[in-house]
Amino acid sequence: MKPKVLVTRRLLPEALAYLQEHARVEGGKSRRGLTRENLKAKIRDKDGLLCLLVDQIDRDIMDSAPRLKIIANCAVGFDNIDLGEARKRGILVTNTPGVLTETTADLTWALILATARKIPQSDRFTRNKRFRGWELDLFLGKELTGKRLGIIGMGRIGMAVALRARTFRMEVVYFDPCRLTPQEEKTLKAAFVPLDNLLASSDIITIHASLHPGTYHLISAENLRLMKKDAILVNVARGPIVDEKALARALARRQLWGAGLDVYEKEPAIQPELLRLDNVVLLPHIGSATYETRLRMAMMAARNLIQGLKGGRPDHLVV
Ligand code: DGY
Repeated sequence: MKPKVLVTRRLLPEALAYLQEHARVEGGKSRRGLTRENLKAKIRDKDGLLCLLVDQIDRDIMDSAPRLKIIANCAVGFDNIDLGEARKRGILVTNTPGVLTETTADLTWALILATARKIPQSDRFTRNKRFRGWELDLFLGKELTGKRLGIIGMGRIGMAVALRARTFRMEVVYFDPCRLTPQEEKTLKAAFVPLDNLLASSDIITIHASLHPGTYHLISAENLRLMKKDAILVNVARGPIVDEKALARALARRQLWGAGLDVYEKEPAIQPELLRLDNVVLLPHIGSATYETRLRMAMMAARNLIQGLKGGRPDHLVV
């Protein structure tokens, strides 16, 4: 008998077809997620769950899933899953590392450039037929060449961002509790500095850390005050790493020059003040959103799930 699998939201058809070959699949077609009550009802008789980063899989959900053997998260981050609870119950948890590194690094640079050169603001201005001809001081942005880039979180994505910084001949510093090897630092031309030093000295600060209790509100009001007045903060990691209210306040007071955000503290809600500000560029969590990457992620999550359900060790096991 094929195992029973629940897919919380729309999956790419190729990945759904793969799952259907190996399992009896429910869900995977609707853009709208399940309500918690629906999820609890539907997971009751399932052996496997394929979920997205927007699904909170906590103790309450696991209590409703007596047969559950594996949770395959279609994301590299897994802060939406209570790992402790899963471990206690012997439920495997998998993620999708590696396949979205370059895409997310590309988006980081798109966001750095969009923020530094006011691209969305200029586009809105032009569409609104306000372009009356070349002006010496129209949409003056920030130069990147020769500036200092501070990377918080030097994992795979942080390193890919550092490599791209060479094109701009930027000086790269980083902070991560796990220091790179001297060889890696040399290859990336990146120097380790303490966090407060990075915050106080960088022109562009970009966040690539994972979310856990130690990084929650790492960028607090106090840490925002350490940043240079003309600095830019970019976050493509997880929203709660930045105190969003404090950031909105700092941007409104021009305590820093600008920010580019792809992620938010209470997604999809956004601090209303941010929506009114013109010195912040806002994206809808599209860091890994290319067709190729999302297909790789969906296929990887589907394969992890089936490997676990067949009793093997999934390739990308978290716990
Ligand atoms: C992830 O996989 O964790 C990313 O946030 C998706 O873009």
